[in-house]
Parts: sequence; structure tokens; C-alpha cells
Amino acid sequence: MRVKDPSPQTPPISPREIAARKGGTPIVCLTAYTTPQAQMIDPVCDLVLVGDSVGMVLHGMPSTLGVTLDMMILHGRAVARGITHACLIVDMPFGSYEASPEIAFANASRLMAETGAAGVKLEGGVTMAPTIRFLVDRAIPVMAHVGLTPQSVHALGGYKVQGREGDRDRVLADARAVAQAGAFSVVLEKIPAGLANELTQILPIPTIGIGASVDCDGQILVTEDILGQFEGFRPKFVKRYAELGALGRDAVATYADEVRAKVFPGLEHAFGDVQPTAAKVAPKP
Ligand code: KIV
Repeated sequence: MRVKDPSPQTPPISPREIAARKGGTPIVCLTAYTTPQAQMIDPVCDLVLVGDSVGMVLHGMPSTLGVTLDMMILHGRAVARGITHACLIVDMPFGSYEASPEIAFANASRLMAETGAAGVKLEGGVTMAPTIRFLVDRAIPVMAHVGLTPQSVHALGGYKVQGREGDRDRVLADARAVAQAGAFSVVLEKIPAGLANELTQILPIPTIGIGASVDCDGQILVTEDILGQFEGFRPKFVKRYAELGALGRDAVATYADEVRAKVFPGLEHAFGDVQPTAAKVAPKP
């Protein structure tokens, strides 16, 4: 009888372990929305976020405002199937947490229970700090998100850099408030490098930058952005590591040409009428 290997699989990285990485080796984070994408990025990531950017990147929405809890659960479950190593965090969509801490708890606990995520991310600073405290006190690890918060695009008047001159104190206060409320890390989006540096120095939790300079404790980007698969627009803070959009267009154009020219399918993709018998197979030399 074969004995099953008793060694347990190493558990994925926890939010506590992410928090403990403050000031250490930069924390590598990316977004994922599907199982194959999660499988591709999991081995090299410390944290994988199922971001509400899924609405714009996969569903063609004009902003993240139309994303629902059900969409986040669907994509969260798909991503969870591809994760064994990284810390899995799911975004709380617009309208699912702002009204009260109780509503935030009901929706955050549903997100975690139905996806298997280790925690949630929500946008907002001073205003959301009591909600973050409420969730953290009830065993829900929270990743905060300040600076440019895309769910507030209309209130902010666009996707502009936040925290410049007159606005600096607001972003400082937001970041301080979420750290004090118990967030295990904070995303700093589209803020000046000097402010990101200062926040990284003063906050006790890891800062995860997106358009916030190399000084942060970690970095996050949307995977489709770095692979060149989302071509709707290209923020300055995105670096393209591949051009899969262009590669994909070339590939499907070649397929279309080959179908029209009857080059595809070739004999190697077709099935014969007669199965080869053992006698017909040439003897091995
Ligand atoms: O929704 C998202 O993808 C995000 C980040 C990339 C931070 O919030």
C-alpha cells in the first residue's frame, strides 16, 4: 500500500506576514481575475489582489463604479483556484462598505467566506478608518487604499495625482488614520514621490505603491497593463514588460488567413477514418 506523503503543503503567505515585511525586501503584488492568470503570477508574487479594476479591464466598463459584489466573488473564486503561495486579497466594490461598518462586515465576511481570500481591500482614509477598525476587530484583515481612489473618480474630478501641495495634508492624514485603524498594509496610488517616501518612513505598516515611486515597501500593478493586454489607456506609472495584445492580434490574424486559405486545419490536426493496427506500424530499428 502506498503511504500518502504526510508533509503538509506550505500555507499561503498571510496578511500578518505581509505586515511583518515592513522595511524589508520589496513586496511584490499584482492583480489577477482568472485561474490561469493566478497560476501564472502566484509563484513570483507575495500578494495577489482581485482588484475591482476587473470591471474596466475584463468587462469593458468605463470606471470601477459598476462592479458588484457578485462579480468580485465570481472572480475571487476563480483566482483562489490558482493560488497556493501568495496572500490573496479581494477588493470591496463601490457601495458594498461605505454606508456603515455593519454593512461592510456583512459584505467583507461574504467575500472571504465565498472566495477563500485572506482579507479585503477598501478605498478611503479618515472617513473609512472606523470601518477598518470594526472589520479588523472582527478578524477581517484589511488592506487600505489612499491617494487616488478610483471609486471616487467623480468626487475627485478625474484620475489626477493626489497629495500635491495644498492636498498633501489630506493624504498624510488619510494614510495615518488607516494605519492607526489596524490596516495590515496600505496602497498609495498616484501620489508624489516625496510624499510616498515620507509616508513609508512614518507609517508602521507596509506601503504598496502604484504610481508612488520606488521608495514604497512594495509595488502593485494591474497584470494586463504590464503584459500589454489592456490598451484602453496607459497611465504613466505602468511599465510594459510584454506586448501580448499585439502578439494576440497577429496570432488571430494568421489564424483567420489560414482558415480562409484552407491551410488550417492541416493533416496533423485531422482524424483518419481507419485506426492504424499494430501490424501496420513500422517496426522500431
Ligand atoms: O483594482 C485594482 O486593480 C487596484 C489596484 C491595482 C491597486 O485597486
